[in-house]
Amino acid sequence: MRYVDLGPVLLSCNIRPRASWHWQQCSVDLVFTDPNLTNKYIQYRPVPPLTLCKAVVDHVKKSRGDDLGICGDIGCGSGQNTSFYSDYFREVVGVDVSPQQLAMARTATQHLTNVTFKEGSAEQLPFADHSVDLLTCCASVHWFDYTQFYPEVERVLKPGGVLACYSYLVGSIHYDDKVISDNFKENWYSLKPYWPASHYVLWEDYSTLPRLYEDDILISLLKEMGTDDENVPIKHSYNYFLRMWRKPASF
Ligand SMILES: C[S@@+](CC[C@H](N)C(=O)[O-])C[C@H]1O[C@@H](n2cnc3c(N)ncnc32)[C@H](O)[C@@H]1O
Repeated sequence: MRYVDLGPVLLSCNIRPRASWHWQQCSVDLVFTDPNLTNKYIQYRPVPPLTLCKAVVDHVKKSRGDDLGICGDIGCGSGQNTSFYSDYFREVVGVDVSPQQLAMARTATQHLTNVTFKEGSAEQLPFADHSVDLLTCCASVHWFDYTQFYPEVERVLKPGGVLACYSYLVGSIHYDDKVISDNFKENWYSLKPYWPASHYVLWEDYSTLPRLYEDDILISLLKEMGTDDENVPIKHSYNYFLRMWRKPASF
């Protein structure tokens, strides 16, 4: 039995995000240095919905045109999100603090000649000033220190460049269209007080991330995955949220 992607469903778009924000100090994540975890991570981590990534590319093209240069995927992990952008950009660079995650990413994407990876941090991006068309953060921005990351975004993005941050919080499992993961979710939610406060933005679908630029949108997408065996009517669903900011086109 294999899980197959049932495709995403657009739930809503252009919701105005709330302005309130409490600045948090985030710490570099040490969880992702455990090779046992990174092995499992590449096997089981859901890939973001392709429709979401296409919406990001279309958004960038509106201000940067069709000939796109550099895409940086920050907190790229094992590269599931990074590889999507190789069809649309001349160069795609995945950046992560974890050498273990980067080793997985390099192996998984070795067939893609325009994709490379750099060990580095969101707080000191390894890009020249005004050189990048798109920065993506898939399930990663809540790990960063925004007080250092946002000035770096401003430094490296070209005018009209885009920062796109997206994630999901937790998936649901359905059997015969009945949700069977309520107990799991209840236990999982009970752990919230033990989360770092900086991760609470996930519970609010990134609507409480600090606003970076005026041009600011929030989109929700439902991703569903089912099995390829019709006798096993199990589905997984994930509610993804995407927040994007466009840097003004003139300085
Ligand atoms: C939840 S994982 C997401 C990985 C991948 N983008 C995905 O979609 O599966 C978060 C990643 O962010 C990386 N990370 C955490 N803090 C970071 C920082 N300050 N700078 C760069 N990467 C960081 C971690 O090493 C980890 O690989």
